Amino acid sequence: RLDERELLYEIGELAAKFYRNLLERNEEAAAARRYLEKRGVDRETAEAYRLGYAPERWDALARYLAQKGVPPEQAEKLGLLRRREGGGFYDTFRNRLLFAITDIHGRIIGFGGRVLDDSLPKYINSPESPIYHKSEVLFGAHLAKGAMREQGSAIVVEGYFDHLALYQAGVRNVVATCGTALTDGHIKLLKRYATKVYTLFDADSAGKKATLRALDLFLQENFPAYVVELTAGEDPDSFVKKEGVTAFQDRLAKARPVIEYFFRDLLRQVDIGTVEGKVRVVEELAPRLAKIANPIERELYVREVSRIVGVENRSLLAKIGRGAAPAN
Ligand code: UTP
Ligand code: MN
Ligand code: MN
Ligand code: MN
Ligand code: MN
Repeated sequence: RLDERELLYEIGELAAKFYRNLLERNEEAAAARRYLEKRGVDRETAEAYRLGYAPERWDALARYLAQKGVPPEQAEKLGLLRRREGGGFYDTFRNRLLFAITDIHGRIIGFGGRVLDDSLPKYINSPESPIYHKSEVLFGAHLAKGAMREQGSAIVVEGYFDHLALYQAGVRNVVATCGTALTDGHIKLLKRYATKVYTLFDADSAGKKATLRALDLFLQENFPAYVVELTAGEDPDSFVKKEGVTAFQDRLAKARPVIEYFFRDLLRQVDIGTVEGKVRVVEELAPRLAKIANPIERELYVREVSRIVGVENRSLLAKIGRGAAPAN
């Protein structure tokens, strides 16, 4: 089984080189090169990310791998080839710009492929495989690990291009979830390098949902987390392009603890002037406050929330069922 994994890494590496080579010099990839130029990706960055291009053919990779003596069944395990009805295999990725997905050591474990226009689906991604466990992998972690360690912090973004744009702008302690929900496996990975994390999801409803989902996990795992808010409608890539990296650093400096983000969001949704609104705030907030591990921090939030909602501290403390310093 060890041998199988080794073979899969080799196939990933072969495919990455094949796609990279096409992007760099093949006539077929002219539109993909123009696309990268339009998005402001420079050559060095393209090299660092090992960007590639999958041509608009059904058997470009299939033929290449056959030539190299790779059993197609193995490439199928990586999701690179698919089985054709009636026999044979065809390429999964066609006419797409490819991001190489790597493990923490930089070994190729999959690809994410973007269309060059507005067609759907916008991205397709490699599936889980014996070498790609999505709940343990964050995109770009191998490019970020040094910077995460040096700075003690990690920035979590949604997308491939968000990661790339920040990298190119010199912000290096960044990882991307790339369409998967954050897991405790991801937190474990981040904890190896950083002591706090910034969530920097898109400033749209999907991004907000992702932020709120991550909140409970961060509280659960007792990992200090801050929310960076961008101008409505932007993502890190578009924000840095429009407003520049200084404006970005400014937003980062203004990041607020996840619990505060949650509280403020709640206050926008409910009418705090009504009993019903107050009850809802307490109901939603209490289980989250209960998860704050640091008792001092928890107490300060309890006081703050009690004041704003207009209930006694001890009522809220009773509700969260922990944290009251014994009065003896
Ligand atoms: P977004 O829809 O925010 O795309 O999805 P994006 O990253 O800003 O992409 P660009 O700038 O339009 O190129 C965020 C991430 O979710 C995953 C991808 O990893 C994407 O980067 N995703 C999105 C998919 O896997 N499939 C999709 O169809 C869309
Ligand atoms: Mn594993
Ligand atoms: Mn998004
Ligand atoms: Mn986006
Ligand atoms: Mn984007």
